[in-house]
Amino acid sequence: MTASTILCVNGRHVTVEADSKTPLLYVLRNDLGLNGPKYGCGLGECGACAVLIGDRAARSCTVPIGAVKTRPITTLEGLGTERDPHPVQAAFIAHQAAQCGYCLNGMIIATVALLRANLHPAEAEIRQALRHHLCRCGTHIEILAAVRAAAA
Ligand code: FES
Repeated sequence: MTASTILCVNGRHVTVEADSKTPLLYVLRNDLGLNGPKYGCGLGECGACAVLIGDRAARSCTVPIGAVKTRPITTLEGLGTERDPHPVQAAFIAHQAAQCGYCLNGMIIATVALLRANLHPAEAEIRQALRHHLCRCGTHIEILAAVRAAAA
């Protein structure tokens, strides 16, 4: 049943008209025009749709909007801008961590969540944090280098 829901997205309160079971990803992309989070699998498996809910990374394709209406949501667009990127975004650019780029939203969101919890993660902790984010191009070497640089 469609209803009004107020969400806090990238520091702004927005009202959306949708069923409370609608996946957050659909609202972010289709209603709010935020294309940072990507649709990959739609099943919580690939990580392309990751956003921050509070300080934790979450897969927005599996989170119903009714479950997050009082929580701050941050998408890639809320981290930084092209002119003023977040330090993690800047590290990914500096290390040319993108090939097709489809996975990078999730990789960056997961890295920001990791560094908010642990400023200086060990290599094993970095790999653990990114282990369920799929990259089909195989730029893992560059991605790991970017994360290490952001954590330095
Ligand atoms: Fe959400 Fe793959 S699209 S985890």
